[in-house]
Amino acid sequence: MGRWWPSRLLLGLLCAVVSAGLVGRTDGGVTSSFVRKAEKGVDMPIDSDVFSVPPGYNAPQQVHITQGNHDGSAMILSWVTEDEPGSSKVLYGTDKDQLDFYAEGKYTRYKFYNYTSGYIHHCTLRHLKHDTKYYYAVGIGHTIRKFWFTTPPEVGPDVPYTFGLIGDLGQSHDSNVTLTHYESNPKAQTVLFVGDLSYADTYPNHDNVRWDTWGRFVERSTAYQPWIWTAGNHEIDFAPEIGETVPFKPFSHRYHVPYRSSGSTAPFWYSIKRASAYIIVLASYSAYGKYTPQYQWLEAELPKVNRSETPWLIVLMHSPWYNSYNYHYMEGESMRVMFEPWFVKNKVDVVFAGHVHAYERSHRVSNIAYNIVNGKCKPVPDESAPVYITIGDGGNLEGLANNMTEPQPDYSAFREASFGHAIFEIKNRTHAYYTWHRNQDGNAVAADSMWFYNRYWKS
Ligand SMILES: *[C@@H]1O[C@H](CO)[C@@H](O)[C@H](O)[C@H]1NC(C)=O
Ligand SMILES: *[C@@H]1O[C@H](CO)[C@@H](O)[C@H](O)[C@H]1NC(C)=O
Ligand SMILES: *[C@@H]1O[C@H](CO)[C@@H](O)[C@H](O)[C@H]1NC(C)=O
Ligand SMILES: *[C@@H]1O[C@H](CO)[C@@H](O)[C@H](O)[C@H]1NC(C)=O
Ligand SMILES: *[C@@H]1O[C@H](CO)[C@@H](O)[C@H](O)[C@H]1NC(C)=O
Ligand SMILES: [Fe+2]
Repeated sequence: MGRWWPSRLLLGLLCAVVSAGLVGRTDGGVTSSFVRKAEKGVDMPIDSDVFSVPPGYNAPQQVHITQGNHDGSAMILSWVTEDEPGSSKVLYGTDKDQLDFYAEGKYTRYKFYNYTSGYIHHCTLRHLKHDTKYYYAVGIGHTIRKFWFTTPPEVGPDVPYTFGLIGDLGQSHDSNVTLTHYESNPKAQTVLFVGDLSYADTYPNHDNVRWDTWGRFVERSTAYQPWIWTAGNHEIDFAPEIGETVPFKPFSHRYHVPYRSSGSTAPFWYSIKRASAYIIVLASYSAYGKYTPQYQWLEAELPKVNRSETPWLIVLMHSPWYNSYNYHYMEGESMRVMFEPWFVKNKVDVVFAGHVHAYERSHRVSNIAYNIVNGKCKPVPDESAPVYITIGDGGNLEGLANNMTEPQPDYSAFREASFGHAIFEIKNRTHAYYTWHRNQDGNAVAADSMWFYNRYWKS
């Protein structure tokens, strides 16, 4: 074939020919034979349709929502106005044409090198009814925009609920494919996002305009469905060479989370209850050594989880503990050493991480017997241990991680270097069905799947 063939087309043909057979059973689990050439992704150009500014003077843009308190009866609504502060008020109600209630928020701004942000509004709606569709309007005064969301059912042990999982999304053409693919999967009600949002920091001076474009790109989902945020390394934005020495400045101004309602003292680690799940968000890039705030918080937090109320204990973090790719290998190791014994003791069901731009699912293993002198430093099968899933395959501009350690380690059950998203579908206190969907397939196709039996309630 001629050199002039677009590489994407070639890639497509190759994929079609290779198709999705499974080979390569090595020492560990399965390495998928679904292989594609590693390509550096390309960000969508600044004038792309997905980045367009909504029409109207001072129109609210970058609308996003997230859970607003511990039990899901509050919602934080956030948006940006560019021309002037405008109003931080939200009108809302259960009738589309009659927004009877209002809440007053606040706005903030920040500077980053020579960039000045728009007016970033955050408004918390409280005392919402569970399992109810609410309509809301922002931009009161000039240009009003309307959206809607559905609150979660009241917390309870057998409440079915479905989470979507996305990580390391970025704003490349692949990111757009992932988001579109996720949206075509109508089941998921909330996104658990495992970190690395905009990748603005890959631009000169961390060009924060790319935080704005990202906010506009994902609005089509984040305005309607809560995304639960985890901070990744691309949120640090630490750039002393241009005088920017406050870590997480853009992220923490733009993305508020309900950390205070779980007794946390910083927005990078916190917990929420949602339906039958208890979700703990950890910070790979905040201190977690003994005596640190995060360590103390987690130590006190885990015993508070009542599995009779929320059977499913889910942990989110950015840097994976069990990763068999030659990218970011062992970067999660020091945190694993600190916290893994607690995860096993408290029977965490599943840990979702990102960072590595590929997909991987582990067996239930633990590696907590080592005490320096006994030589016991290998992962062993452990029914009290969580399954570790790396879902950093959102499709950002850095491209795929396709270089794997060989042979596949025993702890690794399935791995594949493809972009995609996952769905965690809780049925009741004992059963949840998990599927991973690669972008090359339709949403009905699960390239990897597993029944989860709850660690606390399994017989
Ligand atoms: C910020 O500085 C860079 C170069 O240092 C320049 O290219 C860019 O246009 C400046 N942006 C603004 C908003 O002044
Ligand atoms: C992104 O995806 C949406 C939905 O599929 C599509 O309408 C839009 O044209 C895409 N934009 C780019 C720049 O790929
Ligand atoms: C745990 O939750 C159950 C069900 O909501 C409740 O009956 C029980 O009192 C709770 N236990 C504790 C220790 O709070
Ligand atoms: C894969 O990673 C290993 C370890 O870092 C390295 O030695 C090897 O050259 C890499 N292979 C390719 C094809 O990049
Ligand atoms: C829980 O869900 C699973 C899968 O849908 C089902 O087989 C099982 O019977 C359910 N358990 C109860 C107690 O309803
Ligand atoms: Fe990362």
